[in-house]
Amino acid sequence: MDNRPIGFFDSGLGGLTSVYELHRILPEEKVIYLGDTARTPYGSKSPETIRRFAVQIVDYLVSKNVKMIIIACNTVTALTLDILRERYPDLPILGVIGPTVRKVADDGCRKVGVIATKATVNSDVYGKSLKAIDPSIEVYSLACPAIVPLVEEGFTDTDIMELTVRHYMDDFVRENQFDDLILGCTHYPLIAKQLNKLYPDIKLYNSSAEVIREAKEILEENDMLASGSDLTDRYYASDLSENFIAMTDLLFAGTDFRIKLVKLED
Ligand code: DGL
Repeated sequence: MDNRPIGFFDSGLGGLTSVYELHRILPEEKVIYLGDTARTPYGSKSPETIRRFAVQIVDYLVSKNVKMIIIACNTVTALTLDILRERYPDLPILGVIGPTVRKVADDGCRKVGVIATKATVNSDVYGKSLKAIDPSIEVYSLACPAIVPLVEEGFTDTDIMELTVRHYMDDFVRENQFDDLILGCTHYPLIAKQLNKLYPDIKLYNSSAEVIREAKEILEENDMLASGSDLTDRYYASDLSENFIAMTDLLFAGTDFRIKLVKLED
């Protein structure tokens, strides 16, 4: 048994979708989440900048005595997972990409679309990882950089979001005819409803959720599950945007939590 919290982080509020899944599957676990809302979005920044931010945040979470870190961001996972694991070799650090790739491959998907940030698409991490498992899988990737800022601004369920999604996706879907779509950004589960409505024949894979399945396995295997902890969940943000607070209130209503502003040193 290990009642220390699990550390999560993302560029903003997208990674809260992973925490939501954790609460659904492992309700006894406690969370420290850090959303870098002052510097979101990450997906259009350089790899060097993303690495610098990620190291800073992981150092912060480690100082809070977490038992595991979940990088609830595809962009950070794509660019920093190896570096972070090297920096903290004794701490389980999970990224969202590996578990998603394994699930898609296990399900026998043949033609797979991936939507993600520019940095994730440029890294081609999904294409490379899927093809490493089965070179005959066809992978089509598309960057949708305007979606994260719209989600951060609270435009999730609006006509503007629908137009934006169609602007990116209509041709992509028509030209590539894939059956399965990886939501390769943890902000995108928040627009799953629109995606299902616009493209009802496409099956969605949620990177925010897949990582929690693997986290559960690791915690079980290492006897690290929490039980009966009286800690409070903590949601920290580097800038306390109204929408971060509203989304946290919405997703975690009924649970015991605190929201706090955290200044990250540069
Ligand atoms: N949620 C992050 C991801 O999964 C978004 C990155 C961004 O800030 O652009 O990639």
